[in-house]
Amino acid sequence: MIGRDLERAARLLREGALVAIPTETVYGLAGNAFSETAVAEIFAVKQRPAFDPLIVHAGSLDRLQTLAADFPPEARRLAEAFMPGPLTLLLPKSDLIPDLVTAGSPNVALRIPNHPMTLNLLNLLEFPLAAPSANPFGYISPTTAQHVGQQLGSKIPYILDGGPCRVGLESTIVGFNGPQAVIYRKGGIPVEAIEEIAGPVLVMAHSSSDPMAPGMLKSHYAPKVPLRLGNLDEMIRENRHLRLGILSFQRVFPRLPRDCQVVLSENGDFTEAARRLFAGMRYLDELPIDLILAEPLPEEHLGRAINDRLRRAAAGS
Ligand code: TXA
Ligand code: MG
Repeated sequence: MIGRDLERAARLLREGALVAIPTETVYGLAGNAFSETAVAEIFAVKQRPAFDPLIVHAGSLDRLQTLAADFPPEARRLAEAFMPGPLTLLLPKSDLIPDLVTAGSPNVALRIPNHPMTLNLLNLLEFPLAAPSANPFGYISPTTAQHVGQQLGSKIPYILDGGPCRVGLESTIVGFNGPQAVIYRKGGIPVEAIEEIAGPVLVMAHSSSDPMAPGMLKSHYAPKVPLRLGNLDEMIRENRHLRLGILSFQRVFPRLPRDCQVVLSENGDFTEAARRLFAGMRYLDELPIDLILAEPLPEEHLGRAINDRLRRAAAGS
């Protein structure tokens, strides 16, 4: 069921049930982070391998701090700059966090989502929420309550509807190697913005399927229809004989049917493109087509995170 009833969401979560929650990035599949049974249920519903750890969400910096065994100054500076917001910090975990949440890692991923409804919910509750994106493992992340309903509606008792996600890309995950900030997943806060606070960062390549390399697997966000990434003009020419869906940054292709084309941002605005990306991929994935053709964005600001998602979608095809 989809609704806006915070009390109901809180009651279900206190009983150990799962509730889908809105955040500014994507919708999350939430459960009590202190309850091993609730956490195990998250892995089961999402069909997620147990080696892939979960982000823990808190409603304030005061509460977040209780979940880390250590909160070094370089982490504090980023927290003060970007929390609440699309930033996740990897920090040594406190004993309050079950090993199941971190898949046995000594570090826990912590974040304060910037969504008024979910902040209210988190501050009503006596415990933080473990929440991965609310999609079946490997599929496109949901940016509306309806997306969640289509795939997980029959498996969870409640979906809290906070409207479409404002950012549309998952949080940027930052860990530390001594004082050096390391980006494990590009996301809603551009690398450049992190560097303004933290100085030069190391951006991890994530080509591996090694579960110990945090920040996700190479193939992910995969639509059911195969997706190819490259030069659109060339790919359209090569695949003329197929029914095509087009995911372009700014351009419309007048010779192709308009309803098979998603334009991420006619004005070339990265923020708008990020907000539309996952919904656009889902829209194309539902069409009776053979192939989705997509083009990379300029490799800067949110374009870097968008390209990361497109590459993984292509790798899963
Ligand atoms: O914006 C987001 O981060 C969304 C919303 C719901 O908060 N959540 C999200 O969760 O994207 P998920 O589970 O789809 O992706 C979390 C990523 C995974 O790739 C996981 O490997 C990594 O974070 N991660 C979580 N805990 C970790 C840990 N302790 N160490 C290393 N990586 C971790
Ligand atoms: Mg995910």
